[in-house]
Amino acid sequence: MVVVMSPDATPEDVARVVARVEGVGGEAFVSTGVVRTIIGLVGDIDSFHHLNLRTLPGVADVHRISDPYKLVSRQHHPDRSTVWVGPAGHQVPIGPGTFTLIAGPCAVETAEQTIETARMARSAGATILRGGAFKPRTSPYAFQGLGVAGLRILSSAREATGLPIVTEVVDARDVPVVAEHADMLQIGTRNMANFGLLQAVGEAGKPVLFKRGMTATIEEWLMAAEYIAQRGNLDVVLCERGIRTFEPATRNTLDISAVPVVQAASHLPVIVDPSHAAGRRDLVVPLSRAAIAVGADGVIVDVHPDPETALCDGPQALRGVELRELARAVRRLPPMVGRADA
Ligand code: E4P
Ligand code: PEP
Repeated sequence: MVVVMSPDATPEDVARVVARVEGVGGEAFVSTGVVRTIIGLVGDIDSFHHLNLRTLPGVADVHRISDPYKLVSRQHHPDRSTVWVGPAGHQVPIGPGTFTLIAGPCAVETAEQTIETARMARSAGATILRGGAFKPRTSPYAFQGLGVAGLRILSSAREATGLPIVTEVVDARDVPVVAEHADMLQIGTRNMANFGLLQAVGEAGKPVLFKRGMTATIEEWLMAAEYIAQRGNLDVVLCERGIRTFEPATRNTLDISAVPVVQAASHLPVIVDPSHAAGRRDLVVPLSRAAIAVGADGVIVDVHPDPETALCDGPQALRGVELRELARAVRRLPPMVGRADA
């Protein structure tokens, strides 16, 4: 069950609902959005009905949600959400009415490589810089990222370019330090179901870029997103990044149909990562075109000034030439496919 507060509800109104729910042995999870607060209720639905929550001051509506995910469901939230990323006064939107390009190195390697890549990204029209300081590698012997030193480099790239930063956090213990440097926290495919980590980022006070697990169904992905929302954070952007199939031509199979399926099921914005889906730079621009056409709210791509020397995922990193081609697609395509945005 979900209680939707009216936009002018006071903190006391919210506290009153929580107290009533807890008074009958239920749990209430408060999520404060830009416009209104919604409260997810867990417990005995019949006892909640007896509370007549709809009559309390500040309560706009009460919904019984049949989806196994509630706060991220579109059932009680018909308008699609926009998530804002970056410092107050310089925030970048991700959501309906925009098409957001996020670009940058897969891994932060050096200050020079990161800042050069950030400048390439900005001149291609990217409005958010990506870059991994903590890298989740398949092999423990592969480059694991520069850690906190990498976060400092990302901060200096933000200073140099003005681009807000999204970077991955792989361990709940690192959430505070990553949140100190990042404008947006990324949860990667390998940690989609790491529920303790999801709860920690839900409490970090920063927007979250939440990738689909490579073997997860859409419903599992949305239930996992609910763990973040339950901790009070509705600023979650979902990212389709390819799933494991039997097809070896690409690293993963981009599930392009996930974009409209998720947009119908959830109010959260949905972007696409064609780089990690394909694992091949020649497919990144075509798959980005597909993402625009299908209605995605943005793409996130890997870029490297010299991919042959990259310490992680070089074969999928765009060079300047492909990045410029992508920039042209992002500028021109949305109006051609009937999207008045971008
Ligand atoms: C990238 O960003 C990931 O860390 C990378 O895709 C991991 O893959 P690998 O360790 O199998 O190369
Ligand atoms: C990444 O974007 O750096 C990354 C590791 O991606 P994924 O989790 O999708 O593999």
